[in-house]
Amino acid sequence: MRVPAKVNLALCVGAADDAGYHELGTVFQALSLCDELVVEPASAGVFRVAFRGEGAAFLPTDDTNLAIRAARLLAHHAGVEDAGCLIVVRKRIPVAGGMAGGSADAAAVLVACNELWGRPATSSELRELAAELGADVPFLLTGGTAIGTGRGDIIEPLETQGTYHWTLALSHTGLSTPAVFREFDRTAEPSKPIIPQALLDALAVGDVAGVGRNLVNDLSDAAISLQPTLSSTLQIGLDAGALGAVVSGSGPTCAFLSDSEESASLVSEALAVFSGVRAVRNACGPVAGAGEDHGSR
Ligand code: C5P
Repeated sequence: MRVPAKVNLALCVGAADDAGYHELGTVFQALSLCDELVVEPASAGVFRVAFRGEGAAFLPTDDTNLAIRAARLLAHHAGVEDAGCLIVVRKRIPVAGGMAGGSADAAAVLVACNELWGRPATSSELRELAAELGADVPFLLTGGTAIGTGRGDIIEPLETQGTYHWTLALSHTGLSTPAVFREFDRTAEPSKPIIPQALLDALAVGDVAGVGRNLVNDLSDAAISLQPTLSSTLQIGLDAGALGAVVSGSGPTCAFLSDSEESASLVSEALAVFSGVRAVRNACGPVAGAGEDHGSR
C-alpha cells in the first residue's frame, strides 16, 4: 500500500505543556510523494521491518522503530493472538525531512496489520492508536487537507477546491524535530496558535495564489537558525515564480506552491542547481491517507 507525505500549509505553534508538547493550530495537506509498504504475516511474536531506497540506511529497524511500535500496539490493543508481521518499506518520503515519513509508515502499518489480522480494530480505534504513536499519525490516516489542533492530533477534515502543485527541495542533512522545537522555545514568544482565516478562505475556493500568500510556519525561524542555507533555498524558489514558499513542518525540506505542473517545473529547475539542495521532488495534493481507499492501491 501507498502512504503519503504531508506538508503543513499553516503551522502555528503555542506554548508547551508539561510533557513538552506544544499546542498547535495547523493545516495539513497530504501529498502524492508516497512511501510504499508491503506487510506480510510472520510467526507469532516476530515483528520485523526493512527499509529500501533513499535514507534507508539511517533508519533503526529494532523495536524503537515507529512502524514496529504501530504493529505491536495494534496487536496488544486488539488482543490478536499469535500476531507477527514482516514490513518492507520503500522510502520516497525524505528521512528527517519534516514531511512525517516515519508517522506515515506507522499509519500505513496500522491499516495494513488491521487488514492482515481480520480487522480486529474499528476505524475510530485506529485513530486513537495513531494519536498514541505520534502527533502526525492521525492525519496520515485521514489524508486530504485537514485542520489539526491539540498536539496536531485532533483532526478535522477540510473541504477544499483545486489541485496544489508542490516542489519540494530536500536538504543534504536532516533536522531533529525536538531540536527545532527546542530552538523555537529558546527564541520565540509563543502566543495562542491561530490559523490565518485568509488561508482557510483561499483553500475553500481553490485560490492557489491566495494559499501561496498565506502559507505560514512558526517553526521556520528555528529551522533556519539551525540550517541557515534554508533562507536562500526559500528565496530561490520564490524568485523562480513560486506562489508561496514554506519550510515543511520542522524542516529542513522546503515546499513551494505552484498552480500548474509547468510552473512547478520552472521552480524545480531553479532549485536543482543550487548547491544547498540535495534533490528536488514534485508532488501534488491533496491525496488520500492510509486509511482511505487503500484496497485499490
Ligand atoms: O509526536 P511526535 O513523536 O511525532 O513528536 C516528535 C517531537 O516533536 C516531540 O518529542 C516534541 O519534541 C515535538 N512536538 C511538540 N509539540 C507537538 C508535536 C511534536 O513539541 N504538538
